[in-house]
Amino acid sequence: SGEYMNEPWRPQVHFSPENQWMNDPNGMVYFEGEYHLFYQYHPDSTVWGPMHWGHAISKDLIHWEHLPIALYPDSLGTIFSGSAVADVNNTSGFGKDGEIPLVAIYTNHSHEKEANGDIDYQTQGIAYSLDNGRTWKKYEGNPVLDNPGIRDFRDPKVIWHKDREEWIMALAVKDRVSFYSSTDLKTWAFESDFGSGVDHGGVVECPDLFPMTTPDGKEKWVLLVSLNPGAPNGGSGTKYYIGDFDGTEFTSDWPAEKEVWLDYGKDNYAGVTWSNVPDENGSRLFIGWMSNWQYANVVPTEKWRSSNTLPRKLTLKEDASGNLFVQSEFVETLDKIASEWEKGNVLTVNPEEFPAYQYQMNVETNESSLFEIALKNTKGDKAIFLFDLEKGLLTFDRSNSGQTAFHENFTDLVTAPLDFGPVTEIEMVVDQSSSELLVNGGRLQMTNLVFPQELLNNVEVVESSQTKVVSSQVRGLKSIWK
Ligand code: FRU
Repeated sequence: SGEYMNEPWRPQVHFSPENQWMNDPNGMVYFEGEYHLFYQYHPDSTVWGPMHWGHAISKDLIHWEHLPIALYPDSLGTIFSGSAVADVNNTSGFGKDGEIPLVAIYTNHSHEKEANGDIDYQTQGIAYSLDNGRTWKKYEGNPVLDNPGIRDFRDPKVIWHKDREEWIMALAVKDRVSFYSSTDLKTWAFESDFGSGVDHGGVVECPDLFPMTTPDGKEKWVLLVSLNPGAPNGGSGTKYYIGDFDGTEFTSDWPAEKEVWLDYGKDNYAGVTWSNVPDENGSRLFIGWMSNWQYANVVPTEKWRSSNTLPRKLTLKEDASGNLFVQSEFVETLDKIASEWEKGNVLTVNPEEFPAYQYQMNVETNESSLFEIALKNTKGDKAIFLFDLEKGLLTFDRSNSGQTAFHENFTDLVTAPLDFGPVTEIEMVVDQSSSELLVNGGRLQMTNLVFPQELLNNVEVVESSQTKVVSSQVRGLKSIWK
């Protein structure tokens, strides 16, 4: 609640900070009924600067409550990205009277060292909370993982490895992911590297390694790797691998240089998954930063910069050729803010009533299908998805979607391969400044920012002879801030 939620482009169904700069989501952990979300935060400006961990909580992954800053810079540096775990067995010893400590594992970035020309300016530190994440104490033994003389050495993501009964950290190290292990979160031993030699002229950032369950009940491990630059449509993006992890080494089912992207849009970066979520049944909850380092610092919002994607449920699925892939779906709790579905051809929501909406369409296509979905408003702004089955290509064009002049690459066409057979299902959530598209139940996802003069509240489908729209429906989404 509050008037701050009415500025132009303020997301109404997505998390954004009340003010100032945000980038990566950090430290997502579920604990005692609350989904914690921390984030890279610069409280003094709307551009990137000395990093803190901002903090918010949610009970349903849709409504968010802003909390005070959780971690401030200290003598070891500012607080870069990282993760948080519930130390259920109190391996760290931070818990006193049977309490379960929440432990945050993050990178300290020493700008002082960097300015001195030293290259060992990134180290890993930990902090703990005994009051449900409300206050945090830094560990006096920091750093817990010192820098071995590598410029890029950051973004620790920690999981509890059930079989090994130890903690495993995935760390972004220049052009690779390094794995470390620990019994107590305070001392870390090197285990192995993955992806050495695979660089896109950029660096690896924000890795995440976790087990998932295949449709036939087997365990497989998924490794998310964010790259900046190196994304398929320029700037920053997140790819993934499916494979095995024996407690020491990750082995991918496909070569390290093969490109399988979690999201083919330009604006889903540095996303990782929640830890300690009960009853996940082999799935995983994910959230990404809805921007791109290419232009994140210059997007045209004034009071704050950046928001997150909608939380996604990630599930391992198998396609018709027997290949496993990571399916992305919007979390079901979206229902809580949704109106009734309205079927038909009138696919407009009243922007006075609904500041955002969800759209679904079932379609029949063949190898020659070509059709378009246009998002429009009454001011003449539009954003267009072109599905070209013959070329096997999906193209998103936001060159006439409103404000675009803030960066030359913002109007570049965004493309994704349609290489998985006919398109049958299309789903979308459109907010004040974003569109998140899922194709075939989340086989493909595409998240893109837009800065129209008002909500792109009208969906128009241009059918071709080779395409049959079977049904389409829309439902309004209410503001999560009211
Ligand atoms: C990714 C990233 C991380 C780093 C953080 C700094 O977007 O560059 O690698 O920890 O942002 O804010």
